Amino acid sequence: KQLQDFNIPTKIGFSMKQDFTSCRLMDFPADFAFGTATAAFQVEGASKTDNRGPSIWDDFCAIPGRIANGDTGEVADDFYHKYQQDILMMKNLGVKHFRLSFSWSRILPTGTIDNVNQKGIDFYNNVLDALIAAGIQPWVTLFHWDLPSALQGKGSTDAWLGDKIINQFNDYADLCFKTFGPKVKRWLTFNEPWTFTWLGYGTGGNAPGRCTQGGYRNDCQTVGGGGDSGKEPYIVTHNVILSHATAVKTYRDKYQKDQGGQIGWTLNTDFAEPYDPSNPDDVKAVDTKVAFEFAWYMDPIVFGKYPDVMVAQIDNNRLPTFTADQQKLIMGSYDFIGINHYTSTYAKAVVTIDTDWSSDSKVWSTATGPDGKLIGPQAQSPWLFVYPPGIRKLMKWVDARYSTQQKKQQLIVFENGVSVPGETEMTIAQAVHDDFRVNFYKGYIQNLRDAITLDGVDVVGYFAWSLMDNFEWDDGYNVRFGMVYVDYKNNQARYVKDSILWYSQFMQTQDFNA
Ligand code: NOJ
Repeated sequence: KQLQDFNIPTKIGFSMKQDFTSCRLMDFPADFAFGTATAAFQVEGASKTDNRGPSIWDDFCAIPGRIANGDTGEVADDFYHKYQQDILMMKNLGVKHFRLSFSWSRILPTGTIDNVNQKGIDFYNNVLDALIAAGIQPWVTLFHWDLPSALQGKGSTDAWLGDKIINQFNDYADLCFKTFGPKVKRWLTFNEPWTFTWLGYGTGGNAPGRCTQGGYRNDCQTVGGGGDSGKEPYIVTHNVILSHATAVKTYRDKYQKDQGGQIGWTLNTDFAEPYDPSNPDDVKAVDTKVAFEFAWYMDPIVFGKYPDVMVAQIDNNRLPTFTADQQKLIMGSYDFIGINHYTSTYAKAVVTIDTDWSSDSKVWSTATGPDGKLIGPQAQSPWLFVYPPGIRKLMKWVDARYSTQQKKQQLIVFENGVSVPGETEMTIAQAVHDDFRVNFYKGYIQNLRDAITLDGVDVVGYFAWSLMDNFEWDDGYNVRFGMVYVDYKNNQARYVKDSILWYSQFMQTQDFNA
């Protein structure tokens, strides 16, 4: 049979399966990067080993009542001591790309460049060497939320609230590019700035837990004054964007040409369906919702400004603006667009929900549609509903907003995954048969393929979250996202789940029924 017989656009790079009797097209380009992902605080443990300094997540875990079961990152998956076996496991499963993060306070225990911890550098060099020897390409995130405690300080102008952090982050990034750049060809500055900004300074549910007392919570960490949910997320975001762009400039000016790598960041966003598709305001609410989550960060580094809808709706000068010099710095500060995506909701336009800051978007999101049904099956995480078409629609949305005739944007999904309902209560023998997760991946990856082959979006990579169960922030070890089971009661032993076996086969054959 000829390719034309399949009536599928032929511009995408595909190859044939060897078995011509079941001749089908390989839908993902040959060099598409399929991988798995983790983050330092969630897997490493060894939180006090070899001079690692504390991070704000260690501090947050120490506050009673903040983390489920009082869990901490002290041991986590003990990746610090088990990385060799984990890398061997990935090699045996045919994983070719691995996204990990560096712990800033393991490399610089007090956050600043005057105190470099050689043991931390040695650890990451060992991990990178092991990955490369196993034929696995490392993708490194510099900041996955674990800010060195020493930088958080006690005042309302410290850490991301002030501008000193821009140089502090740049020093850390520069050291990493210089030290690890020969081994790392894919860098991410920040992971999910929306999450650590909005939850860390708005709702107060994540470290550092700042917020307006009596708003979402009564236990806001506002030592040193302040704590203003209506203002601080916008200030923090501004400084994060400038920190990102400054580090990218350093990479480009000093390292990129010689080292030949790429740099970007990864932003999370849900997608949405209009609550009432016949109501144009609800249709617009979908855009507004994604603008307040995704475009809040992406518009500045593409267009040099915050989204118009944010400028229009955020009153009292709470949204900062970029100076001409800052615009020059931030625009174009990325080589690809990174996206973390898990779930979708229904979006409904509302005039005012109440006068609270959290309704700046004037969009009400709900998982329950007008028919009283959920948008998709509920995962264990209360915010996660399985809705595979959302990822395809999101890819189209991002492509439509940021690609032009002159520049087709390259998109990479850096996280996608699911927590299985009830998994925590299961025995290991039950938990490893995670059909729910296998079906999640099949659905989302098929839709991602359609975004490429049918919609023509240039998606070039996909990373499953997560390689293994790990510390799920305020949910502690209670919520499992892994494709590999970790037995926290028995020396962090690993057990492969059906999902990683399926993914392993799929990465090699692109056969969804593998
Ligand atoms: C996003 C975060 O980047 C990651 O750390 C977290 O575990 C997953 N989402 C699942 O919630």
